[in-house]
Amino acid sequence: MKVFVTRRIPEEGIKLLERECDEVEVYSFDRIPSKNEIIEGLKGKDGLLCLLTDRIDRDVISSNPKLRVISNYAAGYDNIDVDEATKRGIVVTNTPDVLTNATAELAWALLFAVARRVVEGDKFTREGKFRGWSPTLLLGKELAGKTLGVIGTGRIGTAFALKAKCFDMKVLYFNRSRNEVLEDRLGARKVDLEELLRESDFVSIHLPLTEETYHLIDYEKICMMKRDAIIVNTARGAIINEKDLVRALSEGRIFGAGLDVYEKEPEITEELKKLDNVVLLPHIGSATLETRREMAILSAENLIKALKGEKPRYCVNPEVLRD
Ligand code: DGY
Repeated sequence: MKVFVTRRIPEEGIKLLERECDEVEVYSFDRIPSKNEIIEGLKGKDGLLCLLTDRIDRDVISSNPKLRVISNYAAGYDNIDVDEATKRGIVVTNTPDVLTNATAELAWALLFAVARRVVEGDKFTREGKFRGWSPTLLLGKELAGKTLGVIGTGRIGTAFALKAKCFDMKVLYFNRSRNEVLEDRLGARKVDLEELLRESDFVSIHLPLTEETYHLIDYEKICMMKRDAIIVNTARGAIINEKDLVRALSEGRIFGAGLDVYEKEPEITEELKKLDNVVLLPHIGSATLETRREMAILSAENLIKALKGEKPRYCVNPEVLRD
């Protein structure tokens, strides 16, 4: 079993691979490899362990007829042409579950940061502008008793919503299927997207990026929100039309936004950086020591299992697995 890993991941994952595989080649630079570098590294390998920053398209997949498994070091797998992999009988795996809490917690961190103007306050203080307590300084928004709108209630959306209980929030959710956990434990109500946007004080996105969810939130949708509402995105950038968000934020159509993901990562629309009512993070939803270690182990285990012809813990195209 020969494998290529497109970036150094936590040691626990690499050790597992080294124990089980005949050859483990790890991309040696601390940067995103180019398409040609991935194709080069993949030569003669049976398995690929890649990151969400690697575009594993038809060219990459078809460059190596030996390739049997693609293990993504992420829960989202919109970076991989899964249809092409499936057509060729290549198993594709991912790492959900282990990053649920980390990502849900970061969505709350962003929500608080925007609502209580934490980043603005930090900057203000460091710049020596704090001259004493003031009745009107950096007034923000309180969460308690308000309405939270959760767009997408899979694992992360559900974990995120459950924490609303601490703040006695009313929860609305938009999801294909009913979420009985949220209904039973929070009295949450399933609504359509328009109602969620109109009624919520805080909106958080937890959907995968697909053709259906691309630019789901555009200018028109943002304008449906309350003028003092806040939107947070820790899922995938392209679910929000970034240019439309900039326009809405500049016009004061909503109170603010918290973003961990961008439409064309790592590029960020320049105007976003100039706005005070947005908090920007560098896609660190799953970036805790615990979670990244678990992701390394899980992605390595998925790769090894699938290469051995066994059932990996998480497979996104189970139709290619043999019984
Ligand atoms: C994922 O796994 O999809 C996350 O975005 C990683 O942080």
